[in-house]
Amino acid sequence: SITRHYKFDIQRKNVTRLCHTRSIVTVNGKFPGPKIVAREGDRVIVKVINHIKNNVTIHWHGVRQIQTGWADGPAYITQCPIQRGQTYVYNFTIVGQRGTLLWHAHISWMRVTLYGAIIILPKRGVPYPFPKPYKEIPVIFGEWFNADPEAVIAQALQTGAGPNVSDAYTINGLPGPLYNCSKVDTFKLKVKPGKTYLLRMINAALNDELFFSIANHTLTVVEVDAIYTKPFNSDTILITPGQTTNVLLRTKPSFPGATFLMAARPYATGLGTFDNTTTAGLLEYKYTPSTPSNKNLPLSKPTLPSLNDTAFAANFTGKLRSLANAQFPANVPQTVDKRFYFTVGLGTSPCPKNQTCQGPNGTKFAASVNNISFALPSTALLQAHFLGQSKGVYTTDFPSNPPFPFNYTGTPPNNTFVTNGTKAVVLPFNASVELVMQDTSIQGNESHPLHLHGFNFFVVGQGFGNYDPSKDPAKFNLADPIERNTFGVPAGGWVAIRFQADNPGVWFMHCHLDVHTSWGLRMAWVVNDGPLPNQKLLPPPSDLPKC
Ligand code: C2O
Repeated sequence: SITRHYKFDIQRKNVTRLCHTRSIVTVNGKFPGPKIVAREGDRVIVKVINHIKNNVTIHWHGVRQIQTGWADGPAYITQCPIQRGQTYVYNFTIVGQRGTLLWHAHISWMRVTLYGAIIILPKRGVPYPFPKPYKEIPVIFGEWFNADPEAVIAQALQTGAGPNVSDAYTINGLPGPLYNCSKVDTFKLKVKPGKTYLLRMINAALNDELFFSIANHTLTVVEVDAIYTKPFNSDTILITPGQTTNVLLRTKPSFPGATFLMAARPYATGLGTFDNTTTAGLLEYKYTPSTPSNKNLPLSKPTLPSLNDTAFAANFTGKLRSLANAQFPANVPQTVDKRFYFTVGLGTSPCPKNQTCQGPNGTKFAASVNNISFALPSTALLQAHFLGQSKGVYTTDFPSNPPFPFNYTGTPPNNTFVTNGTKAVVLPFNASVELVMQDTSIQGNESHPLHLHGFNFFVVGQGFGNYDPSKDPAKFNLADPIERNTFGVPAGGWVAIRFQADNPGVWFMHCHLDVHTSWGLRMAWVVNDGPLPNQKLLPPPSDLPKC
């Protein structure tokens, strides 16, 4: 294994989409940002230099960061932000992972333009467990705002109202031909007939889960969140923000000059706070003038599930299975040391005095886990933990069970107010954890893609309605459940996950719809050191930013 060096200059750049030119925040002037390529076992060193006014941090989403929590990146959780003129070097090793992940800014809504692919190749000489692709292509979904997204969220948090939605979804930064003033900004995938392509799909969109499909082509899912899966075919992929999905695309034996539309649009279970539009790109078969051409065939469009097709979502996610073979075993915890039951959902909180709130009935929108709307501290939790100075920064009384149980999928009770707090759950090193997350009906049932930092987890069960601890565990899959870092808690349902707390540090967990994170659907796990040297959080790097 080797060390790979990258330099990220955070700088502004004027970019035009939909005929609107805006100064956006970029890495090295690129949008989307540069890709990080490494092999399993490599060390990655990224020097981030902040040249702009806004504070910034970068998160290596899905990288396990074994003992290197200081490099994880969420602002005020593992580090203070990198301020204007400052430099911070992220230094981590990729242990036991190969596949596609993503990096993105992890402060406020800066992820909207600061994101890129992380491509982890297998160790030299180790083949993929599927046919070697002819070519590998990153396909990154995002969102474009004509307005300044930082102003959009600042306004929403101040007025307590729902924020404006984006103006377009994008594929590799391009909205595509279905939007006004966007034809030139279309992603084109030029392919040869009879070949296998590996599409490394990443959803970096701020606030939307997406359905994706390519007209007249079937996709074979082979990997999610840098974990190989049992291959399965699907015409449509569901991908939530924070998730990655590798698919094989086999091109047709002969189709010179033919063009097919690929398209993505939301899977939206919320109350209308989404943009019902479609981003599209083109799959173009190469063509030589001497061969008969299909150039004039009408463009075929894919059919996508309807916007709120939760049945499709449940069916698709239910098909995902770890490869779970001798080479790539699924190390599912078979016993449980610590059990937790968390409600996740939206709600409201009272409008603060001296403020005019435009949320429902004059309240402010809030979101919570077990009725705690997580408030970011003013210094980093990890530092407070490492120095043994948690007092005044966070408390460790995060509830293990819902404090006010009710029928989570029925009519919600009247008082849905949440309380603010900076609370964490403390876990002993190497505890095996079972966590059931239950969607609640407050403000409507809505799917929440929950992301856990520092770990992969196994999705051992999911279902609709209220989780029933007397019946549901009997149906858990402890043999080959899918292993990943982000999974949608189903709208009106629950999901059960298990993970081994074998990584010391402070680990953020939150909904990957940024508006929900901003409203407080987030919390932190503190995993204590183990007795052995390789079970301890390493000391912080000397350039760790100060608050
Ligand atoms: Cu991809 Cu905490 O985020």
